[in-house]
Amino acid sequence: MTQRETWATRAGFILAAVGSAVGLGNIWQFPFKTSTNGGAAFVLVYLLAAVLIGLPAILGEFVIGRRANLNAVAAFRKLDHPAWTAVGALGLLTGMWILSYYSVVGGWVIQYTIGSATGAYLTDTAAYFGSVATGPNAIAFHGLFMAITVGIVAFGVEDGIEAATRLMVPSIVVILVGLAVYAVTLDGSGPAYGYYLSPDIDYLAANLADIVPFAVGQAFFSLSLGMGAMITYASYLGDDDNLVTDGGIIVGLNSAVGLLAGLVVVPLLFVQFGTVPDSAAGGGPGALFVSVADAFASLGLAGRALGVVFFGVVLVAALSSAISLLEVATSYVVDTYGGRRPVVAAAFGTGLFLLGTLSAWRTAWLGWFDTLAYKVLLPTSVLLAVVFVGWIYGPQAVDELQKGTDGGARLATVWLWSLRTVVLVGVLVTLYLGVVSIYPSPGLPFV
Ligand code: PHE
Repeated sequence: MTQRETWATRAGFILAAVGSAVGLGNIWQFPFKTSTNGGAAFVLVYLLAAVLIGLPAILGEFVIGRRANLNAVAAFRKLDHPAWTAVGALGLLTGMWILSYYSVVGGWVIQYTIGSATGAYLTDTAAYFGSVATGPNAIAFHGLFMAITVGIVAFGVEDGIEAATRLMVPSIVVILVGLAVYAVTLDGSGPAYGYYLSPDIDYLAANLADIVPFAVGQAFFSLSLGMGAMITYASYLGDDDNLVTDGGIIVGLNSAVGLLAGLVVVPLLFVQFGTVPDSAAGGGPGALFVSVADAFASLGLAGRALGVVFFGVVLVAALSSAISLLEVATSYVVDTYGGRRPVVAAAFGTGLFLLGTLSAWRTAWLGWFDTLAYKVLLPTSVLLAVVFVGWIYGPQAVDELQKGTDGGARLATVWLWSLRTVVLVGVLVTLYLGVVSIYPSPGLPFV
């Protein structure tokens, strides 16, 4: 077997992991899920979930990946638990499922970046979204997005992923900060901050069962958990890395970028509408595209420039996430069967392009793929990984987590027990609420 690649630098791993985490989940879904689920109340549950459930769980994936030094599927066999290979396979499949429609939305973002430059959406933003979101355009740009993703993964870990994310991640943060500062200066953005930042506890209490599966699912999705992505990225790490600090930085940055995206999008919505519109009025999945485009359109030429910058950043964030999803499957085949990386990546890309045409053809399909991913596939996959690390691999996991930390035995034990208790219960409740919320009608768009 040829020598397996590793990250060139510690920052390389952190940036790639942040690149994976920060994506459409933070910039497209987080603001609109926040606005349809009670504003700051949702933000609060999301942040708690990221720290209390997401951080221990991401460390669990890091431990599996670094211990095994292998892709997410073969890792379990290498750790002497071959039956759990199924969990890795479920993660891989979940990731592929998600990438199929993720790429469709990525295609929308490409069209909006171009549309901002040409001013194509200025006259009628809703009609523009209609022409972008489904049909031949959607399919073509979905193909383009997938092709770029394949192109980066084909170059490998160090020259492809690490090199790309080293540029991408810092530019995302800098530009979002700039846009958030700009949003503060806009007339009418004031009330947005109360809505977004000060939680309505009564609302939260009354709607907890609805908010929890969304917010926790959002935390998993946004941290790239349950799809083998973090296992795979950690498999390119050496023993001297401090997983705990790295994990803390990654979770912190990811939450910060989610919040930051909200600080750009929510004020723009308030400027435009005086409130957060519901789905029918341009909220929901179209919020980022219709409402934000409206806001840019009302700002004339400056708005167009802002649009290019904003959608350009969303595009970069989406790409740096998509490559991590494709890398999971690619590394599995390259590690296990020794295929050539570019060929393997292209083969997966083609298959996923075809699957994604469903979502590109009708938005109802996209919604269905997304719901199933959030409410069933992701929590199941995270649950099984948590059970594995907490209850099956336990003491060895503690040992692995401690490597590269100074001492850290106490911390590692606390971590293990948090996985075995709080995290486990949290994921179970999320899965239960998620399944109940779609049972018995998962809303299949078959007609
Ligand atoms: N975390 C990414 C986002 O927030 C999506 C993603 C999920 C990427 C899983 C990789 C793996 O958009």
